[in-house]
Parts: sequence; structure tokens; C-alpha cells
Amino acid sequence: MSLPRPYEELLSEVLVTEEQLKKRIPELGAQISRDYAGEDLVLICILRGGVMFLTDLMRHITIPHSVDFMAVSSYGAGARETTGQVRITLDLTMNISGRNVLLVEDIVDSGNTIASVLAFLESRQPKTLKVCSLLDKAESRQSEVPIHYTGFVIPNKFVFGYGLDLDEYYRNLPFIGVVDPKKYTPPN
Ligand code: IMP
Ligand code: MG
Repeated sequence: MSLPRPYEELLSEVLVTEEQLKKRIPELGAQISRDYAGEDLVLICILRGGVMFLTDLMRHITIPHSVDFMAVSSYGAGARETTGQVRITLDLTMNISGRNVLLVEDIVDSGNTIASVLAFLESRQPKTLKVCSLLDKAESRQSEVPIHYTGFVIPNKFVFGYGLDLDEYYRNLPFIGVVDPKKYTPPN
């Protein structure tokens, strides 16, 4: 197995800097803390891309809340496409019935993943169900999905870093970068 290349060789530009993340995420945390004040709250994070955002966001949510995780995979699609159908590969541990649920995602692209996950969560009868996504590729939407809290609206380019992967690497980068299509060929 060949080792991944240093990220500098694949990066065309930094789209969201570490400074921008450090400014925006506390704002989102403050807004969520205000909106859910006096209410019960459970954050649900979709593995694995949302993890870095979740752990930073929850440090800025000042009201008591719980956290749970789920994982999904898309049917019959490559790493950079979705077909609209997702399979739940890891279910929640908690019972969310009657609770205020906030789904925490790294990125909404076509919207297909979130649309399926929302339908799945809705069937568990939460009291409320909302979406917080760090990134919104608004131009590429196929399924109309509500995003109640958005970090940054970004253009339709493949991004990596800050939880988002490029073939399962580079999630550790503290910023969000754009992949240079001239320097990177997806594996088959
Ligand atoms: P969807 O097209 O909204 O269903 O997006 C599904 C998933 O694709 C997201 O949750 C991400 O895990 C992944 N994804 C979409 N766009 C990107 C990207 O630019 N970089 C990394 N992952 C992405
Ligand atoms: Mg994801």
C-alpha cells in the first residue's frame, strides 16, 4: 500500500481558515445555547466527518446536552457521489423519543444523506428535529433539506480537512482546503 502524499501536493487553496473556524463555531454554539435554553437537547453526529466539528461545537454550547453517534453509507456510489439511498451502519445508542434532536453534520452536498437520515430520525418521534451543518454546498442540492444552523456556504468544489476526508486521510487538518483536480486522481 502506498502512503498518502503530503496534503500540500493536493491543495489548490484554503477555503475556510483555522481563524474563520475559530470565530464562527463559537457563534453557532452561542446561538444554539440561546435557542435551546431551558430545553433538553441531544446532539447527533454522523461519523466520521462531523466529529471534529462536533467536539469543537459542543465546547461552545453552554447548556447541558447529550451526544450520540450514528454512521451511514451510501448505496452503490463512489466516495464522491451519493445515489440518494443511505444505509444505517451504526444506529444510535440513545432513545431520542420526545427529545430535542440537533443533527450535526460536516457538509450538506446533494442533501441526499441528510434527507434519509432525517426520515430515519423522524420515525423515532423526537420532540423537535433540526440540522446544524458546518458547510453547505448550496448549489449542488438535489434533495430539499432544511439547514437551521450553517457555518459557511461554499462553492461546489471537493473539500478536505477539519474532519472531512480525501480517501480517508487528511481529516486532521485544522482548516478546510480545496482539492486541486489537476494534482489529484480519485482511486478506482
Ligand atoms: P450528500 O451529497 O449531501 O448526501 O453528501 C454526503 C456526504 O458526502 C457528506 O456527509 C460527506 O461525508 C461527503 N461529502 C460531500 N461533499 C464532500 C466534500 O467536498 N469533501 C468531503 N466529503 C464530502
Ligand atoms: Mg459526512
